[in-house]
Amino acid sequence: MILVLKNLLSPEELASIRADLGPQAPWIDGASSAGGQAVTQKNNQQLAQDSALAIRLQQRVLQAVQTDPLFFSAALPRKIFNPLFNRYSGASNHYGPHIDGAVLHAKQTGERVRTDLSCTVFLNEPADYGGGELGIHDTYGTQNIKLPAGHAVLYPGTSLHEVRPVTRGQRLASFFWVQSMVRSDEQRRLLFELDMNLLQLRQQHGETPQTTALTGTYHNLLRMWADT
Ligand code: NI
Repeated sequence: MILVLKNLLSPEELASIRADLGPQAPWIDGASSAGGQAVTQKNNQQLAQDSALAIRLQQRVLQAVQTDPLFFSAALPRKIFNPLFNRYSGASNHYGPHIDGAVLHAKQTGERVRTDLSCTVFLNEPADYGGGELGIHDTYGTQNIKLPAGHAVLYPGTSLHEVRPVTRGQRLASFFWVQSMVRSDEQRRLLFELDMNLLQLRQQHGETPQTTALTGTYHNLLRMWADT
């Protein structure tokens, strides 16, 4: 399932983050943090992970996603791998097709995180740069995603994906991985659809014996499938 999360960050927050991510920020070669096959495809810049700036901005992104009900319902997060920040511009302008590593090691906490889901948060406006679409290859074909600043896309970690060359301006984004309480994309999708439809049924009809029963079904499926 590929899901767009809207307006995670306000225009004021975005302006402040973009100012922090100017040329003075500690940008390093993105290939320094890619492994194996991915390193041959990666040509971008990344904010130094241990920098005070990265740690401060990570908190803002985490705060934004963790208070979004749609993110919670779709991802059912168990662990979030610390958000990273990247820049595509000039000669460092693309990330060819690759699959992210299945298990990542979070330096800060020492934890290992299984990458069930990936999330990219767009930090500047689509009109600010040419190209730079996130191409996600899934079973229904390739989706080319380029969203307004403050929107994010959540997609399965199993997908082959790429960032197409940025031909003008710069593309700023944050991205992170989620280990879900529910490992299977199919099971997460069923839970998400049940949850969203229950929400609408309640809005239309209020609480009924059927919504109560189906909420029980939701929780019983979650109990069957979740690991905490
Ligand atoms: Ni990737």
